[in-house]
Amino acid sequence: MTNVRLSGFSMLLNWILLFAALFACGLCLDNGLARTPPMGWLSWIRFGCNIDCVSDPDFCISEKLIMQMADHMAKDGYKDAGYEYVCIDDCWLATERDKNRRLQPDPKRFPRGMKFLADYVHSRGLKLGIYEDFGTKTCGGYPGSEFYLQLDAQTFAEWGIDLLKFDTCHSDAHDNKYGYPAMSMYLNQTGRPILFSCEWPYGELQQNLSSDYGPVRQYCNIWRNDWDVMDDFKNVMGIVGFYGKNNELFMKYSGPGGFFDPDQLIVGGIGMSHYQQRAQMAMWAMFSAPLLMSNDLRDIPEEAKQLLLNKYILSVDQDPLGAMATKVWEFKGLQLWVKPIMPKGSLAIVFFNTNAFGSGSAISSAAGDIGMTDSRGYQVTEVFTGKDLGTFKPDTKLKTRVFTTDAYMIVCKILS
Ligand code: GLA
Repeated sequence: MTNVRLSGFSMLLNWILLFAALFACGLCLDNGLARTPPMGWLSWIRFGCNIDCVSDPDFCISEKLIMQMADHMAKDGYKDAGYEYVCIDDCWLATERDKNRRLQPDPKRFPRGMKFLADYVHSRGLKLGIYEDFGTKTCGGYPGSEFYLQLDAQTFAEWGIDLLKFDTCHSDAHDNKYGYPAMSMYLNQTGRPILFSCEWPYGELQQNLSSDYGPVRQYCNIWRNDWDVMDDFKNVMGIVGFYGKNNELFMKYSGPGGFFDPDQLIVGGIGMSHYQQRAQMAMWAMFSAPLLMSNDLRDIPEEAKQLLLNKYILSVDQDPLGAMATKVWEFKGLQLWVKPIMPKGSLAIVFFNTNAFGSGSAISSAAGDIGMTDSRGYQVTEVFTGKDLGTFKPDTKLKTRVFTTDAYMIVCKILS
């Protein structure tokens, strides 16, 4: 693929050549990454497209912000818990490519360039993620990668980038099924392992097209397929609802190497209560979702931090099976979700309460009725408190209460 703007005919020729190349390379995304869902930090929900470093120097998208987040991830326990990728979202770019048509960061906000920033993040034992768009422009209006896919993949590799979030604004979603595999191939060809985070199915959703998750999984490590998350529980419930509605389909495609991405974790945010934040965290772990927190690690409430570092939730999310939980039932706004985890026969169970009225829902169920059907029994731990609830057999009663817009989560390890 050439790196210049193409006429209609040469564009067609280009796609044909690309098709041939993709056909020849078979399964292109053999980058060995995302064996478990990636964990890290992403700038978007908390810092958006704030480019005003003059009057808002501590909260704008800049090398300073990213370096500070990397420092906190490394020293405050996040890195040790598994959070690894520090990711810059939109609005890092200069408004034009350079004279060689290469992407360049905004010179004022990233004065030392992206290679410097990648080296810095790597020196903290972390990885650097970046954002681009398959269309002519990013969603924020900066130069997109369309017609420059190969050059941009090479540029990212030369800078030392470890993750690419590839958006879908300003493009025709009919082209996603060609463009995303192409970018996947070009990333692979650089020889640098770059985790590929795609908004391919989300772009199709926005343009009322259906998605084929077979190729998506083949070419992407993680993929967004629903609307943007907001710092608001209604929106989180909407995403959980979408995953519930499509549960059977999604279950087929989640596993080591490829995961559904319901978007950023808003734990440590401003708009949701602590209970709502833990409900989001629980559900994301049940989905085997990437855990990309978008918060201000310089100033985070202790209870949010403890939630992000909760070893029981993280082990459910990072479980080697990488399964998507099954939605077992929903009754009066209360949902039951069950996820198989290792060792074989073990389970994670979540009651997710979407009701915002009253004192919550009382649960009184035989363990066998909520998934613990194995007569060997289970060792059960309550996730948010770390409390050991003891041994459960299928006829043992679980009695608890799930508060409004909250979740109740247990890990049930099979007894041998
Ligand atoms: C889209 C994406 C978001 C974010 C913004 C940036 O809306 O879905 O996650 O990347 O663009 O402009």
